[in-house]
Amino acid sequence: MIFYFSATGNSKYLASRIAKETKDRLISITDCIKNNEYAFKLKEGENLGIVSPIYYWGLPSIVDDFLEYFQLVVSHRPYTFFAATYGTVTGQADTFVKRHLKRLGLELSASYCVRMPDTWTPIFDLNDPVKVSKVNQKAEIQIDKIIKQIKNTESGNFLSFRMPMPAVKLCRYIYEKVRETKHLSVEDSCIGCGLCAQNCPVDAIEIQSGRPVWVKDKCSICLACLHRCPQFSIQYGKFTKKHGQYLHPCMKE
Ligand SMILES: Cc1cc2nc3c(=O)[nH]c(=O)nc-3n(C[C@H](O)[C@H](O)[C@H](O)COP(=O)(O)O)c2cc1C
Ligand code: SF4
Ligand code: SF4
Repeated sequence: MIFYFSATGNSKYLASRIAKETKDRLISITDCIKNNEYAFKLKEGENLGIVSPIYYWGLPSIVDDFLEYFQLVVSHRPYTFFAATYGTVTGQADTFVKRHLKRLGLELSASYCVRMPDTWTPIFDLNDPVKVSKVNQKAEIQIDKIIKQIKNTESGNFLSFRMPMPAVKLCRYIYEKVRETKHLSVEDSCIGCGLCAQNCPVDAIEIQSGRPVWVKDKCSICLACLHRCPQFSIQYGKFTKKHGQYLHPCMKE
């Protein structure tokens, strides 16, 4: 059973590639939250996987919120893994997953990561399709390796670019500020199609008088609304416009 969260497709692609090979069931954390489903049962011999992007050196708030209430009935000792997609630094997202699993009496067998285009475009520039595609090509090699490791039920921490916990705590503090929806804005090019509201995993957007309105003070700041707007009308701060939009190719099929 693989639970995944993905805003722009990187983690969805990773989770799907793993599930295809391991024949694990694939479950969207966004769907679980929207349907208020937190209780699951592992079948005999089934793995437990969590696949997520790294946000601010930890987990996206939506994944943290899901794992906080996650319940699992299990009659064997499962192989458990965390597989992250990331752009630059993984921080200590694995530590947060471990804490959640401990509450369920489970240990984390292995942590993996795959470097993919960094969707935090207030800082990172994704305008060059050739560069972006090269990163995704390199990711294929890392994914193939991880699938082999998971099939061999390898144990260990295979995360690159981890950070010490005091630095991670500071970064998590910044995430709380950064995820205030007041930083998001909409431009006049908006055509009122409503896709941003449909794509928001935490229902933070409502369309009012043909324009998106952020109805929550904080969201996961996944930037799905920004990257998936057909008009590129949603921005976060001053620099996202020049850094472009991104969707993993699997989301365009
Ligand atoms: C709010 C936000 C914060 C991010 N923070 C980090 C980070 O701390 N370290 C990192 O390596 N990548 C970071 N990223 C990049 C994503 O982890 C990366 O692009 C991921 O593959 C996106 O996955 P998705 O397409 O499944 O949503 C961040 C992205 C967002 C939107
Ligand atoms: S997705 Fe873009 S164009 Fe459509 S309503 Fe939202 S901001 Fe406007
Ligand atoms: S409002 Fe936009 S950035 Fe915030 S959670 Fe929804 S889609 Fe993601």
